Amino acid sequence: MRIPQPFPYQGSKRKIAHEIVALLPNHPARLIEPFVGSGAVSLRAAASGKAEQFVFNDINAPLIALWERIVNAPDEIADQYAALWHRQLGQEKAFYFQVRDHFNQTYRPDYLLYLLARCVKAAVRYNANGEFNQSADNRRKGMQPDRMRQNIRHTARLLKNRVSFYAVDYREILAQTHPTDVVYMDPPYQGVNQQDPRYVQRLALEELSAALQDLNARNVPFMVSYDGRTGKKVHGQLLPESLNLTRIEINAGRSSQATLLGRSSTTFESLYLSANLSAHLKNRLQPVLQLSLWT
Ligand SMILES: C[S@@+](CC[C@H](N)C(=O)[O-])C[C@H]1O[C@@H](n2cnc3c(N)ncnc32)[C@H](O)[C@@H]1O
Repeated sequence: MRIPQPFPYQGSKRKIAHEIVALLPNHPARLIEPFVGSGAVSLRAAASGKAEQFVFNDINAPLIALWERIVNAPDEIADQYAALWHRQLGQEKAFYFQVRDHFNQTYRPDYLLYLLARCVKAAVRYNANGEFNQSADNRRKGMQPDRMRQNIRHTARLLKNRVSFYAVDYREILAQTHPTDVVYMDPPYQGVNQQDPRYVQRLALEELSAALQDLNARNVPFMVSYDGRTGKKVHGQLLPESLNLTRIEINAGRSSQATLLGRSSTTFESLYLSANLSAHLKNRLQPVLQLSLWT
């Protein structure tokens, strides 16, 4: 099954989306992604007919504005990208900085699409003033416009009239969920962008745990991707046992970082399932997927 990727995005779950989607219940009223990023799981679920209605939320409002254009005006945004891509030729380095400045003044979706296609590791970075400050990867010109157009059109066909868009804190979205929905959460990697990791991580984990506790109390099914390990090196903290979640590991393949350092290590991503979801899935899916259970 070919799944379109409308834009590259650091932390995308593209490689393991099929394993996550296999664990979703059939025909939820809505598949809700409070941390949608590039929406790899929703796109996979839409393409495989596993869900029909979606909620896309991300705290990054320009990213949600870009999503809205991709779904509702695919050819317009593809034309705008193509125009930027062609204008850069011969002056790629300087042009990237011009677009970045314009984006920081206007937050236009086409500028963000161009920046995502060209920035280092497709990694969105903002400074304390909310300005996009990631540099360009000057080895690349960004996705070819024709390929970008195909991806965008395909994405729009899958999602047209099926998505509600929001750009708020994830807890506001969770507060609007029901037991007939399913929520897939992929919060930022615990170590990312934090000046005092010990303090901020604890705070973030406590906030997230409280939000998950509330979903448990209201019987809303959910899954959370939350760090994992490379070889024996465990990343981040575990979610508390009191949440009564089942944690499985998904093999995400060779770590490029470890490969660079001459080591061959496999990365395993943790996926936590709420109790109501794992009870429903246990007999049906585990033998098929051969997932290794940690708890
Ligand atoms: C790891 S990425 C999600 C990647 C996504 N699963 C994909 O396949 O592309 C995490 C996302 O959470 C968003 N985010 C961070 N803090 C948030 C918050 N408090 N509420 C909602 N979204 C948030 C970030 O902007 C980022 O896009």
